[in-house]
Amino acid sequence: MRVLVIGSGAREHALVLALRKDPAVTALFAAPGNPGTALHAQNHPVDPSSGDSVAALAAELSADLVVVGPEVPLVLGVADAVRAAGIACFGPSAAAARIEGSKAFAKDVMTAAGVRTAHSEIVDTPAELDDALDRFGPTWVVKDDGLAAGKGVVVTADRLAARDHGAELLEQGHPVLLESFLDGPEVSLFCLVDGETVVPLLPAQDHKRVGDGDTGPNTGGMGAYTPLPWLPPETVTAIVDDVVKPVAAEMVRRGCPFSGLLYAGLAIGAAGPAVVEFNCRFGDPETQAVLALLDSPLGELLHATATGTLAEVAPPRWRDGSAITVVIAAENYPGRPRLGDVILGAGESAADATTSVMHAGTALRADGALVSAGGRVLNVVGTGADLAEARANAYARITGIKLPGSHFRTDIGLAAVEDRITV
Ligand code: GLY
Repeated sequence: MRVLVIGSGAREHALVLALRKDPAVTALFAAPGNPGTALHAQNHPVDPSSGDSVAALAAELSADLVVVGPEVPLVLGVADAVRAAGIACFGPSAAAARIEGSKAFAKDVMTAAGVRTAHSEIVDTPAELDDALDRFGPTWVVKDDGLAAGKGVVVTADRLAARDHGAELLEQGHPVLLESFLDGPEVSLFCLVDGETVVPLLPAQDHKRVGDGDTGPNTGGMGAYTPLPWLPPETVTAIVDDVVKPVAAEMVRRGCPFSGLLYAGLAIGAAGPAVVEFNCRFGDPETQAVLALLDSPLGELLHATATGTLAEVAPPRWRDGSAITVVIAAENYPGRPRLGDVILGAGESAADATTSVMHAGTALRADGALVSAGGRVLNVVGTGADLAEARANAYARITGIKLPGSHFRTDIGLAAVEDRITV
């Protein structure tokens, strides 16, 4: 099977690494890819948001399967263009990707499917903002009603900060989504979905705030771990049965069946799981940890999902133990990051079976030096017999990586190791 992965971040690097291990994958391409994917796949330039360009590249490479990593191409219909060219594509249609692309659409689907989620209101003029804020909070949850890579969300007990964020979004012409605050630890559950067939992967937890102890502004994600020692297995079953399956069925009923990866972001409160958001693709940085424990051939699972035969393949098998991702971010991220700094120590070591380094925002300078080229620069993934060991392995690997001005959280997975998370 010849596979083309679309995207250029650490999630795509992790997909490439996992696909490379599948004996059925005979050729692997990434577009545009990054210096990390280039170590295991052939990189090709492409505009990932252009359906015509992606479909043409897939045809030129005789790809049997295209795997679309990021949400923007999916929302823009890249998967539709690839399928129209007669090539199997892992990723939902533009119509189904609205589950992430429009929070209002997602709420509508969830209401129809009877799924618990936050109460919400859309505000699209500054005149409505103050009255609407009075109906929420504290705590206020103020979101951009569109794609904002996690950074369009402010969760705050400070009404003025909530108002400022809402006013700024409206000034930029973006409708604002106000939501009631959902209490409880967050879970990311990724499910392969092919119409009404739903196959969950291991549950994971992201760390969205930039600083240790969940302080500072929201980011695209600073680290993650899997599985979740504090989450009862029956809660995963309940999420699949009471949340993901009803939503998948509702999408079928609406004539926009979901095909690809449906990512349920949930808060596990006293009354049970409630949906914070749905995404239409693999989450980043959780995927890097989840795939590190996958023991089944990834190509087979993705191809079956893409071709409507997911119900016919064996469910995924997982290695024992835990995995953790720690994101190394550039100076000033999540603000405007400093770019172009030389990175040392990020190379692969064949001797190291317990860690790997994924490229998120890197580039090769003309002289061949690896330099930072994005806010989230590298992800270090550690595995171990348990979460404490996975953490120790990842953080030990980080000490060997040098990037001036960079920062990372030191507490990824720590609350779980210290048994401080209860549901
Ligand atoms: N883990 C957050 C995201 O992928 O959106």
